Amino acid sequence: MAEYLNRIGAGLILLDAAPLSYDWVPPNVVGREEDQEHLAAMFASIATPGMSCRAVITGNVGSGKTVLSRAFADDLTRHLSGVRAIQSIHVNCRNHPTTSQVLQRIAKALDDRHPDRGFSASEVIQGIRRNLRTHNQHMLLILDEVDHLMRREGGDLLYQLLRIDEGRDEAGTLSLILISQEQVLDQLEGAVISRFGRSNHLALKPYSETQLAAIASQRAVLATRTGSVSEEILTLIGQASADTGDARVAIELLEAAVMRAEKGGFQEVAASHVQRDAVARGRVVEPSVVDELNQHEQMILLAICRRLRRDPEVTSGDAERLYHVVCEEYEVKPRGHTTFWKYLKILETRSLMESRTGTASAGRGRTQHITMPNSLPGQLENRLEHALKQ
Ligand SMILES: Nc1ncnc2c1ncn2[C@@H]1O[C@H](COP(=O)(O)OP(=O)(O)OP(=O)(O)O)[C@@H](O)[C@H]1O
Ligand SMILES: [Mg+2]
Repeated sequence: MAEYLNRIGAGLILLDAAPLSYDWVPPNVVGREEDQEHLAAMFASIATPGMSCRAVITGNVGSGKTVLSRAFADDLTRHLSGVRAIQSIHVNCRNHPTTSQVLQRIAKALDDRHPDRGFSASEVIQGIRRNLRTHNQHMLLILDEVDHLMRREGGDLLYQLLRIDEGRDEAGTLSLILISQEQVLDQLEGAVISRFGRSNHLALKPYSETQLAAIASQRAVLATRTGSVSEEILTLIGQASADTGDARVAIELLEAAVMRAEKGGFQEVAASHVQRDAVARGRVVEPSVVDELNQHEQMILLAICRRLRRDPEVTSGDAERLYHVVCEEYEVKPRGHTTFWKYLKILETRSLMESRTGTASAGRGRTQHITMPNSLPGQLENRLEHALKQ
């Protein structure tokens, strides 16, 4: 048996790499319940024949606009089956930035024999309308990254789509969701805006630390062996991506950490597997910050670094005890509890560490869990020891 092949397929941590890629479509959208309810409210009348609904979704890169709108279209189609036939179509306008390309995508989705050229925009639109009527379908059209279309060709297509039933004895052919990273509302022409109504605007906030950890968790559960990615590691990933609020960053950190741990032959993902990537992302604290700290701040940080080299997090209580050990080592009298806390907060303000209030700390209200998502504790430790020797 060729022993050098032993590691292949061993899968110490990884079971299935697919959920770690961001092309993977999650089975449900995590932590956006309020936004989903808001969107559903804008579509309250869509079950009624003859009715159309509209929404504009905006939000930062990676705030879940695409995944939320796709899931909404699928959920809605299923929910209304037997009530109203919904034909949902998602067009990414970055890949199809002109009126004719967008219309072509729609027409092809409804009928793959639709000819590639030879019709004007309004002819294609009327063709789309007839097709939907014939099949008794209502179209939910999602124009994703619509700002690309708007910048190139203005709001003409939107205007025409909104008027698709005008001059006919019909209504409710098409519902529309526009998506953009920017505040497209302001770029749209007056007539289009008034047809959308400002109350139909869903602005997605950047994800919080906890939401990002939950998004990473959803994937970790499906991609890895139970127990190989701990809660603490997920928290660390949440913290390390929170400055962007971008789900892709959290997913990327998870993937890289899992791959690194797996390649290294580990059974579990360790904090250093995450930190290395957070550092590579360039959002790191400069080790020179150390020189600006006073002696006790340096000793507290050293105590924390020593523990975080092994563990993903340390409690404030342990940190204080470890600080006392460091004081002994350097033959300095430790500062009191209150001053210790003050210094801890200073270290946090300088982004050298992060802390969150523990859930399991009943009775001792102030217990904090300290992590270091943006530094390599080992590197900082060397620097601190060097600084303290002087
Ligand atoms: N709430 C969530 N639950 C599960 N996965 C999510 C969630 N939000 C985002 N994701 C995942 O994160 C990645 C980025 O999300 P998405 O593509 O929806 O962002 P976006 O806002 O459309 O970004 P962009 O502005 O770049 O188009 C995708 O892989 C998506 O599946
Ligand atoms: Mg998107």
